[in-house]
Amino acid sequence: MKNGQIWYDVDGNDIQAHGGCIIKFGNLYYWYGEHKGGPNVPNSKVERVDVIGVSCYTSQDLVNWKYEGLALEADKSDPESPLHPSKVLERPKVLYNEKTGKYVMWFHSDRADYQFARAGVAISDNPKGPFVFLRDFTPNKQDSRDMTVYKDKDGVAYLFHSANRNKTMNVARLTEDYTNVDGLFVSVLPDQEREAPALFFYDGMYYMISSGCTSWNPNAALYAECPHLMGKWKLIDNPLEGKDARITFYGQSAYIFEAEGAFYLMLDHWKPDSLRYSGYSILPIKVNPDKTLTVPWQEEWLGI
Ligand code: GAL
Repeated sequence: MKNGQIWYDVDGNDIQAHGGCIIKFGNLYYWYGEHKGGPNVPNSKVERVDVIGVSCYTSQDLVNWKYEGLALEADKSDPESPLHPSKVLERPKVLYNEKTGKYVMWFHSDRADYQFARAGVAISDNPKGPFVFLRDFTPNKQDSRDMTVYKDKDGVAYLFHSANRNKTMNVARLTEDYTNVDGLFVSVLPDQEREAPALFFYDGMYYMISSGCTSWNPNAALYAECPHLMGKWKLIDNPLEGKDARITFYGQSAYIFEAEGAFYLMLDHWKPDSLRYSGYSILPIKVNPDKTLTVPWQEEWLGI
């Protein structure tokens, strides 16, 4: 799979799982992401395609992906629904809750003009769905655009979302069932305007790779670190290495997953004029002996 290009599933169809996440449940990897497999809507202020839903793919080797259908489907019947095709549904992320036995999906829920700025939540008994929409809301009454969720070692989960019109990153603790925020939150990285957060933990340190705010256009990734999820995050540097590292290899962070003890960064390579043809990359993350991060460019993703 050539990094930076559109990828294909085992049936030869283009993989539609943008702004996604890869997570292992049982012995299978699941890839959830935005199904953008329609034409760009003409004359929209921000380039967009109608919402189709959240796709689900499964794989054993992270290279051969089988399409499992839409885990969460658009709601064509109700123009007021946050799942209506005319709305925005981005960056879906899924967690499994041990206590309730439910799979919980969080995503950025918005109007086409991006002024609604909410987080959406859906749940399912099965990782392949169907996920049932629960609510969309402003977590802790804070606006919420780009986001991710992160499950800590102790099973407590957190929503990381760009807030205060993207001026800060907010870290909001989730309720025990992961379907809401519990009221405790902090605003970190003040005035840094970071989005597209992706997280992992290694050797006593949490790391967050994020992008700047330039819509679908690439910019320089930066990583931040902190020994506590709700502590004072510190921006360090651009971890990428190689040609076009200053513009994240024409990509933007989507998620970081762990496979067999190593960490991998997923990138989206947006094609604003034809979003459905946006490509993907998966790149290994190196944690250096001095605890700095490096993400070198690699032409191909060969799996594990
Ligand atoms: C980006 C964001 C994407 C999408 C896009 C719309 O900054 O990361 O998820 O919202 O803006 O312009």
